[in-house]
Amino acid sequence: MCSMGFQHFLLPSKLVGRDRTAVCRAVFDPAKPKGEVLLRRVVPQEVMEVADLRSRVFGGPDSEINRRRNIYNAITNRIATGSVACFVAVSRPSNVIVGSVDATLYNDKGNLVKYSNAFISKERKVIYISSMAVDLSHRKQGVGQSLLRTVVNLATEVVAEEILLHVERDNVAAQSLYTSAGFENLIITPSMEWLNFGIPEHEEPRRLHLNG
Ligand SMILES: CC(C)(COP(=O)(O)OP(=O)(O)OC[C@H]1O[C@@H](n2cnc3c(N)ncnc32)[C@H](O)[C@@H]1OP(=O)(O)O)[C@@H](O)C(=O)NCCC(=O)NCCS
Repeated sequence: MCSMGFQHFLLPSKLVGRDRTAVCRAVFDPAKPKGEVLLRRVVPQEVMEVADLRSRVFGGPDSEINRRRNIYNAITNRIATGSVACFVAVSRPSNVIVGSVDATLYNDKGNLVKYSNAFISKERKVIYISSMAVDLSHRKQGVGQSLLRTVVNLATEVVAEEILLHVERDNVAAQSLYTSAGFENLIITPSMEWLNFGIPEHEEPRRLHLNG
């Protein structure tokens, strides 16, 4: 799964040498999700619940209480940048948060772009997905796919050209989710080595082209 360590990186260099010929479109099953699940941006009073969810889903070496606090602080700080949209999937009618994902907006220089400035910015933009998490009780019901679709919609709104994400080599469920949505491996060229983030245990990022 995506390590929590990815949450604080900045894209360190220019997006250069990209192969823009291979266009791939998101393919989503409109029949999903099967249960009644509402997708929307998180509100501040829900951040602790999202931290709980991510703590459960991703685990980690810290004690649970520290982990939840660190995740809570990370989410709060990230949202405060104005460049990170945190989406939640809320099960109805219980109103329990059963999934979440973050979508961070960058320009082609690797700098954060505020969503509020996205429309006036003429720069090329990409969205980076992180912390995709669905509660065990709601897996395989289309929640992950719906969260992805929400990010794709956001990318379309802010005219981002691509969506990038990392997924670990052995995370079959996540790889299958992303592949079925049209994500493909980057073709790594020397000019794109920065996309490996110097973390050899991870595969190269997947990307989804949103337009030609
Ligand atoms: C990966 C994850 C987000 C998928 O969420 P989900 O809501 O269960 O996914 P969906 O129900 O939307 O599944 C969509 C597609 O993904 C694939 N998929 C999902 N779970 C799968 C599994 N356990 N095994 C194989 N394929 C799987 C399937 O192709 C599925 O389509 P199908 O149901 O028509 O076969 C969820 O398993 C999870 O939270 N895992 C732990 C955290 C994690 O690894 N996050 C990703 C970090 S990169």
